[in-house]
Amino acid sequence: MASKTFTGSIIGLDAERVEVEADARPGLTRFYVVGLPDAMVQEARERVKSAVKHSGFLFPRGTAIVNLAPADLRKAGTLYDLPIAVALIGLRHPASLATQHALLAGELSLDGQLRPIHGSMSLAALAKHCGASEVIVPRANAKEASLVPGIRVYGAESLSEVVAHLEGRTRLPRTPTQILERGLIPRAFPDFSSVRGQEQAKRALEIAAAGGHNVLMQGPPGSGKTLLAHCYPSILPALEPEEILEVTRIWSVAGKLDSGKGIMSERPFRTPHHTASGASLVGGGTVPRPGEVSIAHRGVLFLDEFPEFARPVLENLRQPLEDGTVTVTRVQQSVTFPARFNLIAAMNPCPCGYATDPDHECSCTPMQIALYRKRISGPLLDRIDLLIEVPRVKTSSLLDQSDAEASAAIRERVCAARDRQMGRRGETGVLLNSELPSQVFRGPFKPHEDARKLLEQADARYHLSGRSYFRILKVALTIADLSGSAHITMEHVAEALQYRQIFE
Ligand SMILES: Nc1ncnc2c1ncn2[C@@H]1O[C@H](COP(=O)(O)OP(=O)(O)OP(=O)(O)O)[C@@H](O)[C@H]1O
Ligand SMILES: [Mg+2]
Ligand SMILES: [Zn+2]
Repeated sequence: MASKTFTGSIIGLDAERVEVEADARPGLTRFYVVGLPDAMVQEARERVKSAVKHSGFLFPRGTAIVNLAPADLRKAGTLYDLPIAVALIGLRHPASLATQHALLAGELSLDGQLRPIHGSMSLAALAKHCGASEVIVPRANAKEASLVPGIRVYGAESLSEVVAHLEGRTRLPRTPTQILERGLIPRAFPDFSSVRGQEQAKRALEIAAAGGHNVLMQGPPGSGKTLLAHCYPSILPALEPEEILEVTRIWSVAGKLDSGKGIMSERPFRTPHHTASGASLVGGGTVPRPGEVSIAHRGVLFLDEFPEFARPVLENLRQPLEDGTVTVTRVQQSVTFPARFNLIAAMNPCPCGYATDPDHECSCTPMQIALYRKRISGPLLDRIDLLIEVPRVKTSSLLDQSDAEASAAIRERVCAARDRQMGRRGETGVLLNSELPSQVFRGPFKPHEDARKLLEQADARYHLSGRSYFRILKVALTIADLSGSAHITMEHVAEALQYRQIFE
């Protein structure tokens, strides 16, 4: 008599059903697993065998065979340990185990304890989709799974607890379905009141936060670019409940969730180093996993020392910057992850750093400067709405006592501007001005006559690309939203144009 359990395989952000079937035949003492990639079979077998015995259950006599079906579905990770162990125990267990209605997933330690896995929120969604009534995962993963309504979630500490539950002997404690509220304002970041001067940079970051615009800051060493970027999360609005669901699902699959909290309720702020590989930035692996651009979804991706990133890595940012998704292609499959992040980038104007500093001699040749700037390609620059110069603040003003405006006050204006965008959502279909399709500027958000004239003049001078033309309009709309104006006027366009000058 074969014994069966079921689980799921994580493909992108979704899971697909996997049947785990165990059988035993008289013969030599052997244990085979089929349907898993070779490299993982050995380890899974050792863990399962040891965990079953240590938990006091009988391991099948003779030759035990476990089949994971469908065989052609790519399977990775360690979540199969628990369903394999339970299927094997089912072969010799005196009481029957109720495994038909429960999705099981978890990594086992040699002594039968359950260890956290990736993607349990996607597994809970699969369980619900399959009509299962419950999902059993390691305790550390129960909270994220419980974000999925309409399915009972149980978190277990060990294999023996799971077996007792399936026997109906001792039920596991149920993790109640999470009622989502708005997210939290992060506390771990510096406040804008600690930054002296830099009024123009702060204003640009306020606009960026209000409309979700991408920013590139350029300035000499020590001017406060890195500091400004680290203050940025403190003026962003808290995550909306639907955003928490999206972000937590990605973090769950990426294995980034803090097991204490289980839910990602703060806006992500990611700061990959410039030596980061393409795979870690945009996603990759034999079974594609989300990269930093997806982990930063609905949050901030801060790329410090922007030109130091490898050119192909930077070019890979073009797709996600344009349409908010990233496609990871592998021989076996290709998956698409969400990647709607807010890019904040920082760089020096030249290799020595002082090309734009009036008080320092720049030691670079024009050739060196040109090469340095060419590392950021035109198409990439075109996707950045706000280009700002961050000059060095005079040392005397660094000791200035007067208080600069606090982040909380800036955040209030940002939230008001976002509320206006939210109010138009029915009309535009998007959350943020930076995501608007360009047609809207021909229709409902057509700028005033004098604003259009100003844009024509700018075009004559800078030969704007179609894309940067609309980006200027999107920024102008955010500026209008911040000032509470219902229309884009000449002043709004004039300010938006200021944020494109340094690279023209
Ligand atoms: N405007 C400012 N207000 C307050 N502190 C500042 C300011 N500018 C610089 N600092 C101080 O100088 C330090 C260096 O600033 P920061 O690291 O942000 O410079 P940077 O522009 O990123 O330089 P680099 O180009 O070398 O990376 C900060 O930690 C901060 O203490
Ligand atoms: Mg810096
Ligand atoms: Zn220089």
